[in-house]
Amino acid sequence: MIPSQKTGLAGIVIRMVRRMTSIAIARGQAMPEAMTTPMGDGFDQIARDAVYRAIFTRRDVRSHFTSEAIDDEVLARLLLAAHHAPSVGFMQPWNFIVIRDAARRAEVRDLFLAARERELPEIEAERQALYRKLKLEGICESALNICITCDRERSKGSPLGRWHNPEMDLYSTVCAVQNFWLAARAEGVGVGWVSIIEAQALKSLLGIPDQVTPIAYLCVGRVSEFAPKPDLETHGWGRRLPLPELIMSETFRGQGEAPLKSAVARLGTAAGAPASLADQRVAPAVPQREPPKVESALSLSSLNFDEASASLASQAASGT
Ligand SMILES: Cc1cc2nc3c(=O)[nH]c(=O)nc-3n(C[C@H](O)[C@H](O)[C@H](O)COP(=O)(O)O)c2cc1C
Repeated sequence: MIPSQKTGLAGIVIRMVRRMTSIAIARGQAMPEAMTTPMGDGFDQIARDAVYRAIFTRRDVRSHFTSEAIDDEVLARLLLAAHHAPSVGFMQPWNFIVIRDAARRAEVRDLFLAARERELPEIEAERQALYRKLKLEGICESALNICITCDRERSKGSPLGRWHNPEMDLYSTVCAVQNFWLAARAEGVGVGWVSIIEAQALKSLLGIPDQVTPIAYLCVGRVSEFAPKPDLETHGWGRRLPLPELIMSETFRGQGEAPLKSAVARLGTAAGAPASLADQRVAPAVPQREPPKVESALSLSSLNFDEASASLASQAASGT
């Protein structure tokens, strides 16, 4: 069972929200009022924690798909979340191609395999063996695939916001992908983005017209678990960069913002957990231990949100 789908108060709340949402969608409403009513300055703490929980525990999933189907009602909510992304000039340049057919997916997987072979020589020689071992897609194992596309001509004639920066439609579509990804995490649905595919070949296979760009090819399905940290980190490919080192002041490479950087550092506990995840005042979806009483000497570069979700996941697994 996925840790966040446990029983208890949080589980009951999640099931109630899911039920309310399905009823609302069945009635043709966008989303239930409780989920969309403006709340003044901010969300209440439970809602706020839920947002951060989705962000910090979202994963790119390739390996843990189960054979369970995804209800169309769930998929509808994910697509609705994507469709509520911001877009330049309210252009809404996206389309969502749902791909279920096994034979078509096998063809997409062949495109991936061919693209991976072409990418391999570009990888540093000493990392090629590791690259080969990495699982970088779940095209055939997932319940379904979705290709999110960007129609570059949808705002033809009135390019509000795109006259100087025509690529803004692409960025808008990426916002839709992220909405989909986060909503999926909240629903316990895994998503894996496969970009190692030659775009023109994918366009031919899916009958995508010239003016439409495929932005994200997503593997989507129920999963046995969400890994506590990025697969590429687990396999030693990379690590999350320390956030304070990425913050600049006024100009590129501008030094300063020490109080802000300290504030970023304070978000971590000794275990590196963001306060919003470690907070014991909220009934957590994942059971948590008390944070350590004594703070270690927290250096700015020790802040690591992946350790936070890793520790939450291991606590959940041990039932503590
Ligand atoms: C634009 C984009 C393209 C990506 N393409 C791939 C891909 O082809 N194969 C893959 O395994 N992961 C892909 N990923 C997932 C990243 O590897 C992953 O987001 C990163 O390692 C961090 O892990 P996390 O998403 O679990 O936090 C892609 C992610 C993005 C945003």
